[in-house]
Amino acid sequence: MPTFDPTPLRAEFPALSRTQGGRHVAFLDGPGGTQVPRRVIDAVVGYYRESNANIHGSFAASRRTDEILAEARGALADLLGARAPGEIKFGQNMTSLTFQLSRSIGRTLAAGDEVVVSRLDHEANRGPWLTAAADAGAIVRELPVRLGDCTLDLDVLDSLLDRGPRLVAVGYASNAVGTVNPVAEVARRAHRVGALVFVDAVHYAPHGPIDVGALDVDFVACSAYKFFGPHVGVLWGRTELLDSLPAYKVRPAEDRWETGTQCHEGIAGTLAAIEYLASVGDRFGNPAPSPRAARRDRLVAGMRAVEAYEQALSTRLLAGLATIPGLTVYGIADPARAPERTPTVAVRLAGWSPAALAVELGRRGIYCWDGDFYATALMEDLGVADGGVVRLGLVHYNTADEVDRVLAELAELAG
Ligand SMILES: Cc1ncc(COP(=O)(O)O)c(C=O)c1O
Repeated sequence: MPTFDPTPLRAEFPALSRTQGGRHVAFLDGPGGTQVPRRVIDAVVGYYRESNANIHGSFAASRRTDEILAEARGALADLLGARAPGEIKFGQNMTSLTFQLSRSIGRTLAAGDEVVVSRLDHEANRGPWLTAAADAGAIVRELPVRLGDCTLDLDVLDSLLDRGPRLVAVGYASNAVGTVNPVAEVARRAHRVGALVFVDAVHYAPHGPIDVGALDVDFVACSAYKFFGPHVGVLWGRTELLDSLPAYKVRPAEDRWETGTQCHEGIAGTLAAIEYLASVGDRFGNPAPSPRAARRDRLVAGMRAVEAYEQALSTRLLAGLATIPGLTVYGIADPARAPERTPTVAVRLAGWSPAALAVELGRRGIYCWDGDFYATALMEDLGVADGGVVRLGLVHYNTADEVDRVLAELAELAG
């Protein structure tokens, strides 16, 4: 079995060779946006060089654009486990796509209907539903968070579901504290009462395999710039819902959901990012996919390998953080519970504001974010709305050495 080794993968990411003060920069900012492999850059540039045109024309560049979009739709279907490429819709970003969908679903809501959102989620999976509910006179109920480990309080879910909500909006994983939510279980319970289930998979997508069929949800949204691609939003929905919901579209447009001209160069790059993830499966899949394996199998193998490697990074990081005096981890802090989280760890260090700590780490070549990351409700509940936290966000191109380095820097700053 090939041991996961980020070294050859890192060599594919030009940005990772960046140095500062004679040392490699440690990019721990992945949850805000990941770096991209060279093939993504080449695909974007190549699109402009060779295929730049609008769609559905009668000349070669336009036909090539149509092909690239079709190939990318197929690749996204493989990444998410969709039944058909037509279930994939491109857009500007997850937030815009979710507002678009919420406006359509909002048209089907009546005054007094209920929708459920969670207090763990990014505002992009709260604001659109709050707005749609306000427009329709519907009622919003909030699923609370157990603050000890930042997990969703599923005991409360059933009492919210007893009220017969029309929709449950839940995140696959928290972009602030890394919790992976039991989405399949939430969907099972929500469907029992006939609610639609919308999943924000933006944070989860770079960390593990997604199977919309196995999750048995209705919609999933994600963003390619979080999984090693360009700034492109992606919405998956069940065909029957995409075909039947009222859609806001202009008259001649063939597609009911893709409004206006898409970011073709970004979609070309997204296709390349998915091919990259499939290549991770070829290299490090366990078992390795056969040379003739379908892309879906190669992707699942790749994302499983990424998941296992990242869990080892989480374990190492959490164990080290526990030894640093004055440091608080928000969320699942027990290294043995690494499988329940992504390697996205929120911390505060006594004596440092999150902003000052992020500046100091940045000065030392460790790039990470401070703030609330739009997980505003969670920060309020945790009592850290004043400046939020520092987020140490690892992905599969990060290394054990980088973990040790950030631990050493934090220990020094704590001292
Ligand atoms: C969990 C989560 N949901 C939604 C978003 C918003 O995504 P986008 O920038 O594509 O609108 C983000 C971005 O940080 C996120 O982390």
